[in-house]
Amino acid sequence: MNIRNLLNDRVKSAMNDAGIPADYSPHLAVSKKAGFGDYQANGAMGAAKALKTNPREVAQKIIDNLDLNGIASKVEIAGPGFINIHLDPKWLAQQTVAVTNSTNLGILPKNNPETVVIDYSSPNLAKEMHVGHLRSTIIGDAIARVLEFTGDKVIRQNHVGDWGTQFGMLIAELEDQLGSGERPELALQDLEGFYQQAKKHFDDDPAFADRARDYVVKLQSGDAQVNKLWQEFRRVSLLHAEEIYRKLNVTLGEADVRGESAYNDDLAPVVAELEAQGLAVEDQGAKVVFLHELADKNGDPSVAIIQKKDGGYLYSTSDLAALRYRVGTLKANRILYFIDARQSLHMQQVFTLARKAGFADEWLSTEHHAFGTMLGSDGKPFKTRSGGTVKLAQLLDEAVERAAKEVRTKNPDLTEEEMAEVASKVGIGAVKYADLCKTRTNDYVFNWESMLAFEGNTGPYMQYAYTRIRSIFRRANENMDTFESEVNLTEPQEVQLAIKLLQLPEIVEQIAADAYPHVMCNYLYDLASLFMTFYEACPILKEGVEPAVKTSRLQLSKGVARTLAQGLDLLGIEVMEKM
Ligand code: ARG
Repeated sequence: MNIRNLLNDRVKSAMNDAGIPADYSPHLAVSKKAGFGDYQANGAMGAAKALKTNPREVAQKIIDNLDLNGIASKVEIAGPGFINIHLDPKWLAQQTVAVTNSTNLGILPKNNPETVVIDYSSPNLAKEMHVGHLRSTIIGDAIARVLEFTGDKVIRQNHVGDWGTQFGMLIAELEDQLGSGERPELALQDLEGFYQQAKKHFDDDPAFADRARDYVVKLQSGDAQVNKLWQEFRRVSLLHAEEIYRKLNVTLGEADVRGESAYNDDLAPVVAELEAQGLAVEDQGAKVVFLHELADKNGDPSVAIIQKKDGGYLYSTSDLAALRYRVGTLKANRILYFIDARQSLHMQQVFTLARKAGFADEWLSTEHHAFGTMLGSDGKPFKTRSGGTVKLAQLLDEAVERAAKEVRTKNPDLTEEEMAEVASKVGIGAVKYADLCKTRTNDYVFNWESMLAFEGNTGPYMQYAYTRIRSIFRRANENMDTFESEVNLTEPQEVQLAIKLLQLPEIVEQIAADAYPHVMCNYLYDLASLFMTFYEACPILKEGVEPAVKTSRLQLSKGVARTLAQGLDLLGIEVMEKM
């Protein structure tokens, strides 16, 4: 049940009956101000302009044909021709009962599910995961969860960087260390340190560098010994990534990994095809495509290199191969990429080229959902005090430690076991929420104090709002999970809370379309705030409250708790009984 869609359909059909041509939309939206009703249809103005009549007359004609019997208590014209719709509290109460007791909180599976490929996290395996990998990992995961929830077939693709020249250097280093008797797992224990050493040897020692380059050639031509070392290196790196995903409560697993190396055999055919189609041409020994569609201000085409002079392939070449695989083999209707905004030109080139080459049909939706950078308090990209990259594992451990301190002072009665669970969920939730609640396209400043605050639009506040309702049920001696009651909405705070509750499907629909998780955070924050207002104005457990009023308010509260838990789950954030 999606109120906006329901009202939109009704107004649309009234417009139709009023003789308004089908190309005019009802422009239905949640009302911005109290007093304008709950929803507003603003379509009369556009229609009137085109039909050269008075908008208020058009609005009246729409209302004359509008059937909102049993749904709205009042429909009125306001201002230049707005139609204000006031929902009927009786209808809202019925919907509230049905939705708050339903498994998916009123969200029905789509009639026409899509096959959606989501490319996210995708770290380069040459290094330990650092803060720069956080955003793609958690934003992509939230969107994967949302689309799955709406009924789409979601295929996660962790397009890890597990191929390319840096592996020659790493293999040379691994071989040297193995020569000194170390086992690969031990040598690779400190991935980051290992990478730094390899890099240093590569830069300082020409013989080492030659050997590294030789290994790249051997790796690409399938040399068994070199391949074994590469496999080992890849295995350890992936274990490390999986450990991070587990800590982060992210749904990426082993089966979702399909990195650059998987496309090795497709690269030559892709280049050959682009050449055969006359798209790729030789330019100073390299193979390139001139994309006039992406020309700059001076009219110079954007140049995509797909094969280097020395025969090596590029990042774009494997992305083209990956796109072809996702369409051809995975049968994607929609492909979403969660990658840093700095790769926008790269993605545009890949999408444009894929279309020109016929890898992607008209109907395929290719979407780069870019995001900004996480900054330190100095406004520069987030770094350690000594200027190094901040390892993600360390950051997450620190979050849990800091949360433990907060929780210990707030609730000293928790057992050690409860404390560990709460600290982990609050700490990780705080980091994720602080990121997800920002408009993803902006940069944002990472700040421990504000993300761990128990007030305001934060993870801990949302988790706290949930536990608060749990505690109301404990005090009422009721089991929230099985509780069911009729609902009667008499107070304005109850009506407002019910409307907000019933808007979850609208929020989910919007996120599924635009991939902005902050829309969910804002919604949950509004919901939690309305709950606090309701709880102050409408006592539940106080002496003298009528039994029917009490159970009705408990049902509303259960709806809020379930919606908070569901919304947080879609963001990949966990709730708990108490904190
Ligand atoms: N490995 C790349 C990087 O770390 C990101 C890959 C994103 N996915 C893609 N299909 N290009 O920058």
